[in-house]
Amino acid sequence: MRQLNVAIIGCGTVGGGVWQALRRNQDLLEKRAGIRLRVSCIVVKDPDKKRFVRLPKRLVGSDWKVAVDDPKTDLVVELVGGVATARKVVEKALGLGKPVVTANKALLAAHGDSLFEKAKNRQTGLYFEASVAGGIPIVKVLREGLLANRFPRIYGILNGTCNYILSRMQEEGEDFSSILAEAQLNGYAESDASLDVNGLDALHKTAILASLAHGFWVSPGDIHVEGIRHVTNLDIGFADRLGYRIKLLSSILSRKQDRDVTEIQATVCPTLVPYNHGLADIDGVFNAINVHGDIVGETLYCGQGAGAEATASAVLSDIAAAALDSLKLADGTAEPTAPCSGCQWQPFTALTQNGKVIAWEDVVSKFYLRLTVTDAPGTMAQIANVLAENTIGISSIIQPEGHESSSVPLILMIHDASVRAMNQALKRIRNLSVVKAAPVMIRVDHFQ
Ligand SMILES: NC(=O)c1ccc[n+]([C@@H]2O[C@H](COP(=O)([O-])OP(=O)(O)OC[C@H]3O[C@@H](n4cnc5c(N)ncnc54)[C@H](OP(=O)(O)O)[C@@H]3O)[C@@H](O)[C@H]2O)c1
Repeated sequence: MRQLNVAIIGCGTVGGGVWQALRRNQDLLEKRAGIRLRVSCIVVKDPDKKRFVRLPKRLVGSDWKVAVDDPKTDLVVELVGGVATARKVVEKALGLGKPVVTANKALLAAHGDSLFEKAKNRQTGLYFEASVAGGIPIVKVLREGLLANRFPRIYGILNGTCNYILSRMQEEGEDFSSILAEAQLNGYAESDASLDVNGLDALHKTAILASLAHGFWVSPGDIHVEGIRHVTNLDIGFADRLGYRIKLLSSILSRKQDRDVTEIQATVCPTLVPYNHGLADIDGVFNAINVHGDIVGETLYCGQGAGAEATASAVLSDIAAAALDSLKLADGTAEPTAPCSGCQWQPFTALTQNGKVIAWEDVVSKFYLRLTVTDAPGTMAQIANVLAENTIGISSIIQPEGHESSSVPLILMIHDASVRAMNQALKRIRNLSVVKAAPVMIRVDHFQ
């Protein structure tokens, strides 16, 4: 049996999980892949640090350049995280023609186009299953299982921390800050949770999925993103009364597909999801992705989106894929551009399109609108007038009973309207004397 020497760069949560899982299932993996996998070195920042896994001392080093450069290293697994060092590690390895496995969505979202180009030029592979939705093999689903499909609609719950916080807000009625603080204390959320709760982690994953699905490089800067900090219990409660749950939802919708041009809508924002849709039931730290393929129809994938073991499962499947590709290339039985052999240096096999992400202002959607208004005659008429002047229709209203002249919430469900029209109307509504606080606007999706 041939042998592949693997250098693991970074052995924190994910690297430790990979080491442990490999110890547990190495025999099985080697039998299935038909190749012996040997971890030849493990690089960390501080070799003396206490870890949740015991690493053999002889394997541990602290200089990634030595490990990557070593002629005996056949495959580099980048699990450092962040962008600066990780980029150097990946560029160096690809430059040497060595395949790379990474779980690093931030790196791919920022520099994926140049890294994939480098891999292609060096005829080697860049494997990234673990970068989106942890243990859910969604990259292989899009690249291989559903290769024959176009993707009119993809929806995802892609950040476990946000989903955990929103689920607990819904179940227990506690507010965002206290649930976040408790999650941080118990290790469910990072001490700096801003990447998660501001939506940036989900944004990076959405950019990767959109690029894969639509065959052009989608930059995170082109995707509208909102986090969940502004979601209140009040909104969760009203959404519930109306038959919805609030989720941080990634949406990637095909808007136009000419022969030469693809236009998509890509957003990451809190969204009202109807109770009868499968994504409404995804609770806690779980991730889920709903992929609509034009041939296969609707499909739903659910699982753990993060954590040592779930992510290790994806990393190990990439290590096996990289190992098989290396063997095939060495034997001359693989074409470097084969789309579904597992070779991923050509990640966007339909990379033929000129693609465009439509601007947030041009997005048309249903909306939930919460206004804080004076409980006085004529209030509703003034607001309805402004909406009508912007050709915005109301589909339903909730106005809890209040005391005359006091401030009360007014909930309006809005028919399809563009964000531009909504913003124009809200600017005027905010200036009405009967409106007492900044309006809250949340997207509503009926998944049609
Ligand atoms: N955590 C998850 O659940 C999860 C899920 C999916 C994807 N990911 C992605 O997986 C990657 C790794 O995440 P993680 O949670 O495992 O991170 P982590 O726990 O912070 O581990 C990072 C590792 O990199 C090492 N490191 C940092 N700088 C280094 C340097 N200059 N040279 C050598 N080693 C260095 C650290 O060494 P020390 O141990 O000595 O500090 C540590 O072992 C990230 O890209 C992340 O986005 C994570």
